[in-house]
Amino acid sequence: MQQSNPKVIKWGIIGLGKIAHKFAQDLKTVESCELYAVASRSSENASEFAKTYNANVFYDSYEALAKDEHIDAIYIATPHSFHKEHSILCLNHKKAVLCEKPFAMNLVEVEEMIATAKANDTLLMEALWTYFLPHYQYVLEALQTERYGKLLKLEADFGFHPEINMNSRVFKKSLGGGSLLDIGIYPIFAAVSTLGIPNHIDAKAEFFDNDVDASCDIIFSYDNDVKAYLKSTLLEKTPTEALFYCEKGTIKINSRFHEPSTVILIVDGKETTLDFDYKTIGYSYEIAHFNQLLRDGKTESDVMTFAFSRTLMQTLDAVRKHIGLNY
Ligand SMILES: NC(=O)c1ccc[n+]([C@@H]2O[C@H](COP(=O)([O-])OP(=O)(O)OC[C@H]3O[C@@H](n4cnc5c(N)ncnc54)[C@H](OP(=O)(O)O)[C@@H]3O)[C@@H](O)[C@H]2O)c1
Repeated sequence: MQQSNPKVIKWGIIGLGKIAHKFAQDLKTVESCELYAVASRSSENASEFAKTYNANVFYDSYEALAKDEHIDAIYIATPHSFHKEHSILCLNHKKAVLCEKPFAMNLVEVEEMIATAKANDTLLMEALWTYFLPHYQYVLEALQTERYGKLLKLEADFGFHPEINMNSRVFKKSLGGGSLLDIGIYPIFAAVSTLGIPNHIDAKAEFFDNDVDASCDIIFSYDNDVKAYLKSTLLEKTPTEALFYCEKGTIKINSRFHEPSTVILIVDGKETTLDFDYKTIGYSYEIAHFNQLLRDGKTESDVMTFAFSRTLMQTLDAVRKHIGLNY
C-alpha cells in the first residue's frame, strides 16, 4: 500500500555519460525521491554534473559512492562491460541497484549479479525502461488477452547511423560495443516479452574491422510457424518500429517503439491512433516502479523479474553464438 508520507529515496548515479543526464532529468519528475550523490572517474565531471542536477555530494570514485551510508538506491550507467562489477560493488554495500541494459555481457555474469543480490538480500533490477512505458504495457495487455486474436508475426527493428568513432563505447569491443547488445536488445525484448523463448534462431551479421557487429538480422521461430523478424544496425537509420500482426488486426508501435511513442491499431483497414500523453523522457516509469519496490521491502521486481532478465540474456547469448560474436 502507498504510504501517505513516503520516505524520500536518496539516489546515487555511477558513470556520468549520456544516459546519466537523461536519467537525472527524469528523476526530478518522480515524487518522493532525490538525486543525492553522483560519481565519475573525473572529479571535474562529477562536480559539474552535481551542480547541474543539484546533487548534494559528488565523488571521483565509484567505490566512495557505493560506501555512502545516506544512499538508498544506485543507478549504474557505465558501459556494458562494467555492469557486473559495478552492480556487485554496490550490492555488497547493501545498496539497491538499478543497472542499465544489457544487464551484463552474458548469462554467467547475470547469474553472479543475481546471486550477489540474493546473498545481500538487496534489490536488483535491470533498467529495461521500455517494459514500464504505458504504451508498451498497453500492447502487452492487448496481446496477452488476444484482443485481436493470436499473434502470428512480429517485425521489429532498431537502426541508426552514428558517426564512426572508435573511442566511443558503441564501437569498442572491450566495452561490449556493437549493434546487438546496444540496440538489438530492444527488438529481441519485443519478441521475448510477447512470444517468449524461440524454438529456433537464424541470424547473420556484418562486422566492423575490429570484430564489433555493425548490423544483425535475426529470425526467431516459434510453434505454429509464428516468426519474429528482428534487426539492429549501426549502418543506417531504419524505421525503429514494432509491428505485431495478429489474426484479426495489427498493432503498430510507431517510431521509436522502445521509447515514449504512439500506437496504431489497424483493424479491417481502419486505423486508430492511441496517444499516451507522455510528459517525461520515459525513465520516470522505471524509477517510480523501483522506488515502490524499495518502499515495499522487495528484493526483486514483479515486472522485470530475474527470470525475465535471464531469458533475455540467454537469448542474446544464443544470437551471439549464431553470428560468432564473442566477448
Ligand atoms: N535505457 C536507455 O535508454 C539507454 C540509452 C543509452 C544507453 N544506455 C545504456 O547505458 C550505458 C551507458 O551508456 P551511455 O550512452 O550513457 O554511455 P557513455 O555516454 O559512454 O557513458 C558511460 C559512462 O561510463 C563511465 N565509464 C566508466 N568506465 C569507462 C570506460 N572505461 N570507458 C568509457 N566510459 C566509462 C564514464 O563516466 P565517468 O567518466 O563519469 O566515470 C562514461 O561517461 C550502456 O550500457 C547503455 O547500453 C541505456
